[in-house]
Amino acid sequence: MTQLSAQEMDIPRRILDNLNLAVLLFDRQLNLTYLNPAAEVLLAASARQVRGVNLKDLLSGEHELVRSCLQTLRSGHPFTEREVSLMLANGRHLTADCTVTPLQEAHQPSELLMELQRVDRQRRILREENLLAQHQASRALVRGLAHEIKNPLGGLRGAAQLLERELHNEALKEYTGIIIGEADRLQNLLNRMLGPNALPHQRNINIHQVIERVRTLTAAEAPPGVRIVRDYDPSIPEFSADPDQLIQALLNIVRNALQAVGQEGQIILRTRTVRQVTLGHQLHKLSIRIDVIDNGPGIAPDMLENIFFPMVTTRADGTGLGLPIAQALVNQHHGLIECSSQPGKTAFTIFLPLETHHEQQ
Ligand SMILES: Nc1ncnc2c1ncn2[C@@H]1O[C@H](COP(=O)(O)OP(=O)(O)OP(=O)(O)O)[C@@H](O)[C@H]1O
Ligand SMILES: [Mg+2]
Repeated sequence: MTQLSAQEMDIPRRILDNLNLAVLLFDRQLNLTYLNPAAEVLLAASARQVRGVNLKDLLSGEHELVRSCLQTLRSGHPFTEREVSLMLANGRHLTADCTVTPLQEAHQPSELLMELQRVDRQRRILREENLLAQHQASRALVRGLAHEIKNPLGGLRGAAQLLERELHNEALKEYTGIIIGEADRLQNLLNRMLGPNALPHQRNINIHQVIERVRTLTAAEAPPGVRIVRDYDPSIPEFSADPDQLIQALLNIVRNALQAVGQEGQIILRTRTVRQVTLGHQLHKLSIRIDVIDNGPGIAPDMLENIFFPMVTTRADGTGLGLPIAQALVNQHHGLIECSSQPGKTAFTIFLPLETHHEQQ
């Protein structure tokens, strides 16, 4: 027999540790003997807390699943149940596809291997991927359009300037002045539509430097009746990012919140770390989560789906570019912005990855 190297013997453990799928092992009495990190996340409990705990006590009122497991121990037949609704003992509720396979020893099922795949999470990933693709397509369209308008606009402005020089009648110069002024205004708009074109200048930063900068800038603009509350997790480690781009992204979001609350209200700036977040296609071990929460009137449900598209606005003087630009800047950092809203509570959440599963630790 060929000898396995230490590194090869380590492969199953590395696979189990990095698997997205929650894997649990139960003994004949249905006591939990092993769970992988994804299962710890799913159960929101550490291995130390739940090892040895019986399946009955892990799931409150999930008698059906327990019965099926006991049946499998007797019959030796595996089973799969789709979209099982699980109520965890800690009160959390989740929907998962569940596969249970008996492991045989001396022709007797001696252990049960349980695989749980969250379906609400899968649905969320699919929805996010679709949205991301749509945003990218609309961004490309807007950028293409802006690019096409920019060149002839430059020509128009240049011609108006030449004409102005030839004119000696002040009244006529007023007209060329209007052409030049309006061309400049359009130029600024087009530059915003083109969005971030520079690649990020990354360096090691502390996320709170970024947030504090945005806080001081917006606090200066805020009416006296608006309170900006800080709720930071100071233990968030430094990470590599472009601070100017992140300041711009956050500024767009906090300015919207300021506009939403009007003369009186509260904006909370909250930072936390989160484990096991999927952004785009990738599962990230550790990410930063920044919440900007305001108590303004909220965003109408039919509007909420569209706010990250360019040119979507409800403000008379809005261009509808603030959020798509913020999303593009955060995407450049492999992150994502989400939004949830109800009257009195609108939360914009920025996720920024710190550690991914594919990097060697
Ligand atoms: N915190 C919020 N509360 C309520 N509505 C919001 C909030 N943030 C964004 N919105 C809605 O989303 C729309 C789009 O926001 P976005 O920042 O992209 O554009 P804008 O603010 O209208 O214009 P600008 O390009 O000047 O930022 C806003 O017009 C507003 O209707
Ligand atoms: Mg805005």
